[in-house]
Formats: sequence, C-alpha cells, structure tokens
Amino acid sequence: MSSKDTRFLDFDTIRADLGLGTELDSFRDGWEESQRARQTDGAGFLTPPTVEEACRFLQMEPALAHAFNEALPLIAGNDALLCLAWHCHWLLFASAPEKKASLGAVPELPESLGPARDWLYAFVYLAGVPHVRELHRARGVDESVTVETLGDLALWMREYRTRFGRWGFGQAGWLTRHVSGRLYQLGRLQFETTCFPLDFHVFQNREDGEIVALTGDGLRFRHDGQFDGTNGVFDEAHAWTSFFHEDESEVRGNLVTIDGRAVHHAVDLPLDEWDCALRKGDPVLSVHIPATGPLDHAACVASYRRAMAFFPAHVPEHPFKGFYCNSWLLDCQLGEHLPESANIVRFLRDWYVLPAPNASSAQTIERVFGWDVTDPFEQPADTTLRRIVIEHMKHGERWRNAAGVIMPVDLQKIR
Ligand SMILES: CC(C)(COP(=O)(O)OP(=O)(O)OC[C@H]1O[C@@H](n2cnc3c(N)ncnc32)[C@H](O)[C@@H]1OP(=O)(O)O)[C@@H](O)C(=O)NCCC(=O)NCCS
Repeated sequence: MSSKDTRFLDFDTIRADLGLGTELDSFRDGWEESQRARQTDGAGFLTPPTVEEACRFLQMEPALAHAFNEALPLIAGNDALLCLAWHCHWLLFASAPEKKASLGAVPELPESLGPARDWLYAFVYLAGVPHVRELHRARGVDESVTVETLGDLALWMREYRTRFGRWGFGQAGWLTRHVSGRLYQLGRLQFETTCFPLDFHVFQNREDGEIVALTGDGLRFRHDGQFDGTNGVFDEAHAWTSFFHEDESEVRGNLVTIDGRAVHHAVDLPLDEWDCALRKGDPVLSVHIPATGPLDHAACVASYRRAMAFFPAHVPEHPFKGFYCNSWLLDCQLGEHLPESANIVRFLRDWYVLPAPNASSAQTIERVFGWDVTDPFEQPADTTLRRIVIEHMKHGERWRNAAGVIMPVDLQKIR
C-alpha cells in the first residue's frame, strides 16, 4: 500500500496480520477514531519527503538519516504497521487532550513485530516533528531549542545501536515529555516541568537566604540518615521515625544535612525568620543530564540560568520554585572518592542533596558499566570512576541514587 492509500483497517485485522496476542490491546481504545482521522489527515504520513524533511530539520547525522530512509519501507510498506504507526502518532499528536493525558503509558512493542519493533516508535516521533515545531512556535520558543530538545531522539537511537548493534529506538515513554511541551533542552541540561515528589520541606532564611531542608512527618530513616531499606538494607536496631510539626509561629522537625543525611535530633525554625520555599507537590523543574559529552560545570550553570529566564517566558503556567533532580550523580559518596576537580563532583556540590526513597545502586551500575551489566567486577576498570565504583563495592559499600534541590537563591551563589 502506498502511504497515500488510507484504507481503513480495523483493529482485529491488524492484530491478525501482525500475529499479535493481547500485547497491544490498549490501542483498541480510540482505534476507529484514529483510523478515520487518517483518512482525512494521513496523506503525508511517513512519506519519503516528510521523513527526509524531519531528518533535515533535526540536523540528524547522515548515517542516521540514511538509516531512517532505508528503514521507511519496513513500516510504510506494510498496511498493518502503517495503521499501527498512525494510531500511535495520532495518540501522541492529534487526539483530543484528554486522550493525550494517557500518553505516559506507551506500551512496549512485542518481539513478534521483528525489525519493525526497532523502528516503529522512531518513525512515530519523527512524523511528529512538525507538531512539536508548531507547539513550540505557539509558545514563542526558538527553533534552535526545538532542534536541541528533539535531538534526544537521535541520542537514544545511538544508545540503542551501542547496546544492540543495530539502529532502533527504545525510549518511547521518555520522549512523550519532549513532544508534549513539558521538557526542553537548554544547553547542557534538560528541564522538565513537574511537581516536587518528595516529602521534604525546604525553608529559606528571610535575612541571608540560607536554605535548610527538614524531613516530612512519619518517615523511617536508618542510623546513617538514609531511608530505611536503602539498597535493601534495614536498620533493625537504630532506625527512627521523623516528625514535622508546624504552627503559626514555628516549625519543628528533623534536619536534612546538605550532603543528604536525615538527622535524628530536632530543630526549630521561627516563622518570622524562615519561609517555606518548597514542599511536596510544589511546581519544580526536574533536571536531566543527557549523555552528550562531559558535564562541563560552566555549561551546567549556564543551563540553570537559561532555565530561570526560559520557563517564565515560554511556560508561565508552571511557576517553578526551584530545581529538582534524582540521579546517581547526586550520590555524595562520589564526592568522597573522585577529585574535587571532576565534573561530577562540581555538579554534585551545587545541590542540596536529599535522601531518595527506594534508593539503590542500579542506576550507578547501569550508567557506569552499561545497561545489561549484572556483574561490574567483570567489567574493565578503565576510567577513574569505574575504578572507584568497584573499589567501594569491594569494601562492602553500596552506591545509591539521591535526590537534590537547587533553589533560585542558591543559583546566585554558584560560580
Ligand atoms: C555525567 C557524565 C557526562 C559525566 O562525565 P564527565 O564529565 O567525564 O565526568 P568527570 O569529569 O567527573 O569524570 C571523572 C572520571 O570518571 C569517568 N567517567 C565519568 N562518567 C563516566 C561513566 N558514565 N562511565 C565510566 N566512566 C565515567 C571519566 O572518564 C573520568 O575518568 P578519567 O579520569 O579516567 O578520564 C557521564 O557520566 C555521562 O555521560 N553519563 C551518562 C548520562 C547520565 O548518567 N545522566 C544522568 C542520568 S540520571
């Protein structure tokens, strides 16, 4: 079928054609509506010129643009796959807003799709480039930001190739943030509009701007100040429960030190001296660190500063109170073992670190040794970081992801 042929195929037909079981049954909902929309709006969908234009706009490297071109017949040359790709595309870009709300749950594609499984979502997103351009244009966002933000598609496709030895795309859920106007790449870092998900209270001193964090009420911490159960380790003998109490004149609760440890003894903050600057549910910008090269400190600072100006101008409905991050890079133990000059340490030092619930070493292992690595001891210790990660574990210690905040007042102090 040529991609101009917008013949209607019902869901059961494509399911039989593609040998699907029940894996993609969530797509049944809205199927007829999407396929009707295809008959009116689907003419240019996944044609060679539109694919080429999207690759050109994204300034894609020639090898990847070529791979897109080569892979196109895989999807566009198969009725059932083209209908399926359209349906995903429609859900992401063309459906009613209330349907778009369910985008978070992008289903994993079944093995039975064969090589099309590597490519289907890549084409779905590529075909959405004009929609994102339009969305950003309407917000007054410069096209260079659109290109940078959507550059994550190529980044994750390169990652896929490193991992599996062939081009493909496996981050369909992650990219929903980019195409819905929730995430922007501004230089070195990405920023996502979200709500502060943790039960901590961040206070700011009225006079000197000092920031302190207190725990929420009723949280269980180990003697070392990490959540009880971090790395699967529970503190039977010394775990304690935090409290937080607030009245008109003061708050009283457990301090969290700037290096991410909850402290058992209580502190009082008089409310005529301290303002609550951030608490659970408040709007924040979640910071993500794409693997685009070294984590140059000046570039990170420039990114934070850009975000401070960008979001009020282009996403004013999200009056964020600060930056939030949850990452293996915020593990303060890294600062004890890497030199102060290391980019990771300089990045880490800018954050008020908070313990993360359910923290584990999984992300550290994944990001330092590779996605499918189960035994880091078998991997080459060929960088300083790999050596310290292994050494630490040999001593029976465990790495962990951590959370952190940077409040705007702190940003002024970062050099
Ligand atoms: C974050 C990142 C850019 C830091 O790299 P960087 O700027 O080189 O960091 P540093 O300068 O602190 O590196 C210090 C040492 O650790 C090594 N190192 C840094 N990141 C490493 C990694 N992910 N794997 C292995 N070694 C790493 C460096 O090569 C250097 O070793 P060397 O002295 O032997 O050359 C890099 O780790 C990366 O790209 N990670 C993937 C993205 C990511 O983890 N995002 C966060 C997800 S929540």
